[in-house]
Amino acid sequence: MAVNEEFTGNLIQKLEELFDVSLKLTVPDEPSVDPMITVGKFGDYQCDNTMKPWSKLKGKSTTTQFTNSLAIGQAIVTNLPTSEMVESCSVTGPGYINVVLSTKWIAKSIESMLINGIHTWAPTLSVKRAVVDFSSPNIAKKMHVGHLRSTIIGDTIARMLEYSKVEVLRRNHVGDWGTQFGMIIEYLFEEFPDSDSVPRHQLKIFSCFTDNQMQNVKRIQTLRKRHKRLWSVFRVEILFTARFGLRFEKPAEKNVPRFINAFKSSLKKRLQDPSDACKDRWWCFTYDTTDMAALWYRLNEEKAEWIIYVTDAGQQEHFARFFKVARNAGWLPENDKTYPRASNVTFGVVNGEDGKRFRGRGKEAVSLTDLLDEAKTRSKAALIERGKVKEWTPKKLDQTAEAVGYGAVKYADLKNNRSTSYVFNFDKMLDDKGDTAVYLLYAYARICSVIEKSGKDMDELKKIGKLALDHAEERALGLHLIRFAETVNVGHIFGGPNPPLMTRPIRSLKPNIY
Ligand code: ARG
Repeated sequence: MAVNEEFTGNLIQKLEELFDVSLKLTVPDEPSVDPMITVGKFGDYQCDNTMKPWSKLKGKSTTTQFTNSLAIGQAIVTNLPTSEMVESCSVTGPGYINVVLSTKWIAKSIESMLINGIHTWAPTLSVKRAVVDFSSPNIAKKMHVGHLRSTIIGDTIARMLEYSKVEVLRRNHVGDWGTQFGMIIEYLFEEFPDSDSVPRHQLKIFSCFTDNQMQNVKRIQTLRKRHKRLWSVFRVEILFTARFGLRFEKPAEKNVPRFINAFKSSLKKRLQDPSDACKDRWWCFTYDTTDMAALWYRLNEEKAEWIIYVTDAGQQEHFARFFKVARNAGWLPENDKTYPRASNVTFGVVNGEDGKRFRGRGKEAVSLTDLLDEAKTRSKAALIERGKVKEWTPKKLDQTAEAVGYGAVKYADLKNNRSTSYVFNFDKMLDDKGDTAVYLLYAYARICSVIEKSGKDMDELKKIGKLALDHAEERALGLHLIRFAETVNVGHIFGGPNPPLMTRPIRSLKPNIY
């Protein structure tokens, strides 16, 4: 079997191919043994393929040449095809195989990345089109720090998928707006009985609460023209204009009634008593129903194969429940790892120094706009302190303050494990010596100035083909860069516990409004 040793691709997959050849030679009577390669503790990678064949072979001691699992490990190493990629293998403990990659091969890989472009290292995923539902603040409320992680992590997932040649539909879900807008519209009808003739730009929002709000929600959702006009004004006014350079496409979850018919007929097939299971849920659309509508649209109209919802862990139950309803309706397959697939990617909370949810100075959850403004103001102050006012134009100072400030917030979030909570701290994230975006940006600027001062032409240097990774840190960085494809591997990003399956019957579900 030809082993793929090209300087691109997924390293784990390449090692799996190599070990597969060896396993077939070493334990030919155990065809069910697949290579198990993981990132190693003692080497760069580790192969854990000795225990399973040993447990099968040890009973048959008359037919096997091996006396223990360690001997199997040694035989796997002996039978491994020679490869430019692997420097050495050692077998430890009961038979763990530690694999050390060739530094020369890593250097060649980095060189090929430099010359042929980073895109040549993109992983290949089996899906063609995905929806990433992220950020998604409740548009009747302020976007607060709680939405920060969804925005940053969601944008990152969308970028990773796009880089892996998946067509990504970026969606800012606006499904949970009903009650609040019902209230506002009711107030406006009272205040401006002739609102139909008021120009759009003159419609101002005030808060008001009346008994008729639910009726108005129903009317907006069933697309009554008069209500829809007001609703469209509010939506445009309130939607967060993203500062991270985010892109969102037009929300697709329109036409809820169409979904209802599709849902009713799907359910009829699946559930014995659809009217009983769902009868209370048609009169007004809740967070669950708008999510069902959006899912229906995303699967059937937008033809997305994978729908990824990025929310805090507190919404896990909502998603588990609504995915289960979609499975019952036959919209999603029973197996939640097959496509079309819906995944809820959750994250931990952002805490303040006091260990409680981050609230800023006041008691209110800090608004994201204020938070980003403060990051920018602080980074501008630091730049002024470094004397940049004299060197730069006010425009350059402003742009740099923004890049550093927003970058610091983003980096401080992404460097944390997705599922753990972290403490928000401006001083730490803007520290120019810590593990921060500020430090990285300074390092980058320094590298650029070294290159500039050297007077060398980088394109010429690339062609010479003498890239070496002499220092241990250089090797580690090189290896890190070429491990991207294996990291994007679905299991790595979306691994972790699956949302718990709904155990309650559908009829006992309570609507949730976030
Ligand atoms: N608006 C919700 C919130 O502010 C998040 C919406 C997530 N997306 C969804 N399709 N339910 O927490």
